[in-house]
Amino acid sequence: MTTEIETVRTVADLRARVSAWRARGGSLAMVPTMGAIHEGHMSLVRQAKGLAGHVVASIFVNPLQFGPSEDFEAYPRGEARDAALLAEAGADLLFAPGAGEMYPEGFATTVHVADITEGLCGASRPDHFDGVATVVAKLLLQCGPDVAIFGEKDYQQLLVIKRLVRDLNIPVKIVGGAIVREPDGLALSSRNAYLSAEERETAPLLYATIQQAAHALAAGHATEHALESARAALEAAGFRVDYLEARDPETLARLSGSVATARILVAAFLGKTRLIDNVPVPPRA
Ligand code: PAF
Repeated sequence: MTTEIETVRTVADLRARVSAWRARGGSLAMVPTMGAIHEGHMSLVRQAKGLAGHVVASIFVNPLQFGPSEDFEAYPRGEARDAALLAEAGADLLFAPGAGEMYPEGFATTVHVADITEGLCGASRPDHFDGVATVVAKLLLQCGPDVAIFGEKDYQQLLVIKRLVRDLNIPVKIVGGAIVREPDGLALSSRNAYLSAEERETAPLLYATIQQAAHALAAGHATEHALESARAALEAAGFRVDYLEARDPETLARLSGSVATARILVAAFLGKTRLIDNVPVPPRA
């Protein structure tokens, strides 16, 4: 088992490695992360490995995508452990730039993706998607992969990145990676570490509840009714629901009444921890 990975910290070094692979005709996949690596990230690296000859993973806790009252300082960091897990999953190179490399003195550009960033996480986390779009545009241009993989847990983020790449003609294919769950259904997330033991016991209800709503929609129940029941169940279990919506899976347009296909998306607080999750309609299981 390989647990060592070469790490580069500058765009120049990253490009030198990538050019050497390209010169030998190699294809390249990228898996951008903010570290705190778990099985969800590792599955993205394995997926990347099946799509290209070389895999670059990046770790950068991007200050631009955190709001002033969010957890930028507290966000879990541990590069040595993360690097070992990324190597174990099959990454060939780690790009771990510092803030000065990504946002040098005088940095003045923001990438803003309209429409699809409105509502859902965009409503409760103003500027979040500008931060994501800006850093992802930079990472893709710095690395120049053929394909880049992002987890479906951040479903709105995945669609924002697809739109960004299409609108700016960035020559890369964006691929979604399936959500990895704990045996009890809780979607893996770096933020699960913030849950108390009691909250951790309640947390799987988030997935169970939206999955039930997905089955109700698939059975022909009206969206409003299914979501109202789901919201009531979550609140009764102690969640504070930020949003719970059924949206078009491609455009994120709002849906109402009976629908054949949708994505149910939820964000809810358990104590201070904000959890997000989503499921397709019709449900996969
Ligand atoms: O999903 C994440 O970890 C981050 O939002 C990303 C895409 C790496 C950008 O910082």
